[in-house]
Amino acid sequence: MKTATMLKTMVAAAFAFSAAAIPVTASAVDEDAAKALWKRNDCNKCHAKSRDKKGPSLKKMAKELKEKGTKESKEPVAVAIEQMTKGKKVKLLDSGKEEDHKVIDTKDAGEQKNLAEWILSH
Ligand code: HEC
Repeated sequence: MKTATMLKTMVAAAFAFSAAAIPVTASAVDEDAAKALWKRNDCNKCHAKSRDKKGPSLKKMAKELKEKGTKESKEPVAVAIEQMTKGKKVKLLDSGKEEDHKVIDTKDAGEQKNLAEWILSH
């Protein structure tokens, strides 16, 4: 095989490989794992799907996390993980009372990231 032909074949193969790999790496939220972690930590006590409870709805959270990410030049996923791991003071939407935000019971970065991506998918 001529060098030029071989190069073309290699480039085509590399392209096909990377194109096939994109969907797998970019968006593989494990929804079942996220929901299980969410329920186990009572996140749903304050956050519902589309209406506000003591905390904002999942829809509103996704929107606010994206806005905050833009404002602070951070990935929305990083903003979400910070919120669920740092126990920062929050104001409850129903009573206006302040308390420390719930800290998630897992230190596994992969599990935290998966939950953050699930929240952001709303
Ligand atoms: C006692 C009620 C309560 C519980 C339980 C709770 N949260 Fe929250 N959460 C809030 C409130 C209130 C805010 C709003 C903070 C703000 O806007 O200042 C908030 C904000 C957030 C945000 C940021 C989104 C935004 O719109 O600002 C994330 C992410 C989040 N919570 C995740 C979780 C996760 C994950 C859990 C379970 C581990 C959880 N929360 C449990 C009350 C709660």
